Amino acid sequence: MPILRRLLLASARSAKLGSLAERSRLVRPVVDRFVAGSSEADAVHTTGRLLSSGLNVTLDFLGEDADSAEQTAATVAAYCSVINALGRATAGGRAEVSVKLSALGQALPRDGDKIALENARQICEAAAAADTTVTLDMEDHTTTDRTLGTLQDLRADFPWVGVALQAYLTRTAGDCRDLSGPGSRVRLCKGAYAEPTSVAYQGNAVNDSYRSCLEILLSGEGYPMIATHDPKMISAARELIVRQNRTPDSYEFQMLLGIRPEEQRALVGSGNRVRIYVPYGGQWYAYFMRRLAERPANLTFFLRALASG
Ligand code: FDA
Repeated sequence: MPILRRLLLASARSAKLGSLAERSRLVRPVVDRFVAGSSEADAVHTTGRLLSSGLNVTLDFLGEDADSAEQTAATVAAYCSVINALGRATAGGRAEVSVKLSALGQALPRDGDKIALENARQICEAAAAADTTVTLDMEDHTTTDRTLGTLQDLRADFPWVGVALQAYLTRTAGDCRDLSGPGSRVRLCKGAYAEPTSVAYQGNAVNDSYRSCLEILLSGEGYPMIATHDPKMISAARELIVRQNRTPDSYEFQMLLGIRPEEQRALVGSGNRVRIYVPYGGQWYAYFMRRLAERPANLTFFLRALASG
């Protein structure tokens, strides 16, 4: 992995840099390209705009690595509130939510998994009442087993809960096989964390793995959610969709807010369902740094704004 990317991903974990950046108003214009805003009203507004242009949405209330039960309760309340605020827009899952288990308490030293599961359950109940769905984001590889365990527990009551799998992990083809059964919602992404070679492919091998995982998911019986901006991965998916006779309601493409909007519209124009991942909230720093790591070209602009703040 290039040094700059590694450095950016390491800084994404710095609480000090995070609070400095999040307090600076001057970086907001750069951040606004990737984040809907800091309030629920901002999230609802952006969701309405995207829905009216034919896109679907998954909302992410920003924040990760909660270090107290109070903090996780506030996150649950924020999710339940935004699901209610979206009201009818969520019907049929057109606007759903994405959740990081670390924001729900997974990393708490005592009973982290149990707390995260109970918190996730409350969000799932609100989603069920609004006729929408929830997808679990995937974080670094030390959490994969626990996240998949929580997924299984949730699916016993809410079979529509989805999960993200990361093609850069060497284990992921196996996880795709395990999760390719009827109704299983799996978001396939490349993976956004700095992972060691002992568990993760590097460089081009990630693309090879992404293609293999796509093939497993698209030839399975589940509902693949193809999360990538990479034109090569998108055309590999489109070939497989045709080869597997997939109907447009049996899969979807997903992209992040602010990245390749013209491609988002083109995919909708050619009859595909497309969902945009829309983050909102004040704790945007870690999310934003992972986006910078994917595209260091945006870095100079960001640093200049931060320095002058
Ligand atoms: P790649 O990084 O190779 O980029 C391909 C092309 O896309 C680039 O050449 C450029 O044109 C454009 N591009 C990509 N990133 C850009 C950026 N930041 N700014 C501008 N242009 C950019 N990861 C994870 O570990 N856990 C998760 O739960 C999720 N969830 C998730 C949901 C959704 C809907 C998406 C789209 C992605 C994720 N990710 C994720 C992130 C994912 O793992 C990955 O880091 C990014 O999507 C970038 O990978 P690409 O497949 O886009 O390819």
